[in-house]
Amino acid sequence: MTYKAKTAICDLNDNVGKQVTLAGWLYNSRKSGKIQFLIIRDGTGLCQCIVEKGKVPDELFDDLKRLGQESSLTVTGTVRADDRSVGGHELAVTAAEIIGESTDYPITPKSHGIDFLLKNRHLHLRSSQQWAIGKIRHTVIDAIRRFFNDNGFTLIDTPIFTTIAGEEVGSLFEVDYFGSPIHLTQTGQLYLESAAMSFGKVYCFGPTFRAEKSKTRRHLTEFWMVEPELAFIDLDGLLKLAENFVSFIVQRVLEDNTAELQTLGADIAQLKKIKPPFYRLTYTEVADILTSDKTKKFMATQLQQLQDRKNQIAATIAELEQKQKGQLKQWQADKIAAELIELRTETGDVDAAIENNPKHAQLAAEFRWGKDLGGSDETIISRMHDKPVFVTHYPKGAKAFYMKIDRDNEKVVLSFDLLAPNGFGEIIGGSVREDDYDVLLEKIKAQQLNPEGYDWYLDLRKYGSVPHGGFGLGVERTVAWLTGEKHIRQCIAFPRMMDKIYI
Ligand code: 4AD
Ligand code: MG
Repeated sequence: MTYKAKTAICDLNDNVGKQVTLAGWLYNSRKSGKIQFLIIRDGTGLCQCIVEKGKVPDELFDDLKRLGQESSLTVTGTVRADDRSVGGHELAVTAAEIIGESTDYPITPKSHGIDFLLKNRHLHLRSSQQWAIGKIRHTVIDAIRRFFNDNGFTLIDTPIFTTIAGEEVGSLFEVDYFGSPIHLTQTGQLYLESAAMSFGKVYCFGPTFRAEKSKTRRHLTEFWMVEPELAFIDLDGLLKLAENFVSFIVQRVLEDNTAELQTLGADIAQLKKIKPPFYRLTYTEVADILTSDKTKKFMATQLQQLQDRKNQIAATIAELEQKQKGQLKQWQADKIAAELIELRTETGDVDAAIENNPKHAQLAAEFRWGKDLGGSDETIISRMHDKPVFVTHYPKGAKAFYMKIDRDNEKVVLSFDLLAPNGFGEIIGGSVREDDYDVLLEKIKAQQLNPEGYDWYLDLRKYGSVPHGGFGLGVERTVAWLTGEKHIRQCIAFPRMMDKIYI
């Protein structure tokens, strides 16, 4: 194998009129007699390469003609600007070298079911959809680090093996640590609180584990969370930090990834609205909204819209099925087949939503003060808003032991969740922390936790306790919201779900 000097596809704009060599994989191809259109991807973009009979040796022309999808190769030729072409350029090929052949690549340009794609995630990562999500996730993570590093926060790496529970005891993954049971971290928060007493403003960023028995589109057993923690901050300060932080991430994705957002069909206009201030509702206000007539009407309108969409899809499917009966070129038949699979998947989603609508409407109508918000309640509130919504002051019984009791209303804690808009739901959870030794000890006992394990955590309230707080943002949920992906398993390269780990 030889490798000539290569040009990245993303740099073709600087090379119009010049001869370059691209190195990549055959993404797709179309052939008609004396001309072949090869779409090459190289990890930085896609480029259509045109191979004309007579302009390359006959033997190479024939080799390229039978080359399978995802074969690796280099192609040399002259760059032409062409607006109609994918990526805006074309390559007029004069030479090529096949590097690694691929035959019968399992994932064809036609759509496949999600189960098949998850089993083949090691290959599906090469798809334009997974590629676009990966690029956006990369920007989100870079923006997270940038934001905290540029705003005076110090990174603290908190441990993955932990000795005490930060969140619900029921979602701990136990590990046998040389004969002693310990567990995988659910949150770096407790450790981070001790670091905040040293550095003032800190953050941790890493994988987090929850043995939650939830098979929903919002739950993974392993996900990435970033958590800032600050000494001397109140609830209002936390909300301002969170809205500036989320707006910064969105801005960066809009700047760096417009093309990827377009590939995924994300709602760019909606993302452009994400600027402070976000909406602020108390939990009590949310409880009132859920049980109000406004919500009843809102759910009825949603149901009507779903039914309209169902009819619209059915009409489009009928039209495409009619087209399938006609004379079609292979690529046209493939395109229709792919569209049909997508529409049928959407029909399934719409049917499920139609079925769930009355159940969710009923759950909302029956909502009683004191319960935590359920997934469907969050979805309703989030659908009612076009910008993120803070829900603050949850009942103390519904939330974790470390949250500070509101001294003006002892039934609630100084906590907040941030719900992403348009039905996505929670992406951040946070709070002011209980900083009074005696109150915290009582709360630890009240939640049946063993105070002994928490002695070092309680120490922070003994030696110079200060008002402090922070929050955690889930990376996969944030990426799913930004990209419009329904299920967060699409937003991490190798997802871990409660019911299944594929590869
Ligand atoms: O609301 P949570 O449980 O908050 C905490 O862990 C706090 N200790 C954070 C803090 O105050 N430092 O989780 C925070 C976020 C959620 O809003 C969500 O985005 C994400 O973490 N998250 C999950 N993401 C995917 N799968 C799961 N099972 C998740 N559980 C939480
Ligand atoms: Mg939460």
